[in-house]
Amino acid sequence: MTSFKNFAPILSENVPLARLTSMRVGGPVRFLFEPRSQAELASLLDVLRRNNILVRVIGAGSNVVAGDDGFPGAVIRLAGDFAHLSFEGPAVTAGAAVPLPRFVRESAERGLSGAEGLVGIPGTLGGALVMNAGGRWGEICRLVRAARVMTLQGGVTDVAPEKLAFGYRHSTLVGSVVLSAVFQLQQSDRQAVEAATRSFLDKKRATQDLGAASAGCIFKNPPGGLSAGALIDRAGLKGVQVGGAKVSPLHANFLVNTGSASAKDVLDLARLVRSRVLETSGVDLEFEVQLW
Ligand code: EPU
Repeated sequence: MTSFKNFAPILSENVPLARLTSMRVGGPVRFLFEPRSQAELASLLDVLRRNNILVRVIGAGSNVVAGDDGFPGAVIRLAGDFAHLSFEGPAVTAGAAVPLPRFVRESAERGLSGAEGLVGIPGTLGGALVMNAGGRWGEICRLVRAARVMTLQGGVTDVAPEKLAFGYRHSTLVGSVVLSAVFQLQQSDRQAVEAATRSFLDKKRATQDLGAASAGCIFKNPPGGLSAGALIDRAGLKGVQVGGAKVSPLHANFLVNTGSASAKDVLDLARLVRSRVLETSGVDLEFEVQLW
């Protein structure tokens, strides 16, 4: 068996994925590593690679539905140096572990405009970049000037945004570890930025279950036509429950864990939703969340 004795300070074993994800479901991950620096991450990836251990990277776990069987490999959650956030005029350098809500708040406090529409999104900047988080009020890709990434082989590169092929909840960063990124905001006025941020948050609060245990929107919006939320709503599914998982009465594309859900409950409910929407509207919804 592999010895991780050099990594003891950053290793926890058999941690329930329910504790690492906002949906709060999922069985144990065999190894959870929380590297605090680029050097620590590089040597960790080296050991994991040499031992053929499967690796996944997690941020705030807000777009992941983890299975009840857990994950037999290693999950990496960046910590320490990776939570560094610094401002230089309208340019912001942020480690991948910085929570997106902190980035939005601290930018607004400095009167920096650009990130207002990302309020209410719960991820880390690393996760937000990998999946190009956002919605109708803006996607994070519009703010990125450069991203520094480490491949699972340990190489570090600075990647220009045009190489990242940002799309709808997509980028080429999938499969590598985002270390940090530089964002470009615009200097504006603190009151105006804070007011805009509050107004976006009010709108989101009125239509989304932001406080509930969930993974946000569970299905992608199909191209053209009605949104996934509207289709699920029209199929009469708001409030429908399987075990401890429920279709949010507020936004039908949110499946919420009422407290006791297993991953099976969530996935059974998702399957039910998918088949009812297919029956009622002929649209086959695709998962937007990552299934682990
Ligand atoms: N709608 C309903 N019933 C519902 C929910 C929505 O009829 O239960 C209708 C709304 O009235 C509206 C339309 O569907 O006419 C679109 O709804 P909404 O404005 O809430 O936006 P959305 O397309 O459902 C997207 C993103 C969200 C993001 C919001 C706001 C996807 C799948 N969802 O939602 O992202 O927060 O726009 O920008 O792209 C996420 O990624 O986890 C997420 C929540």
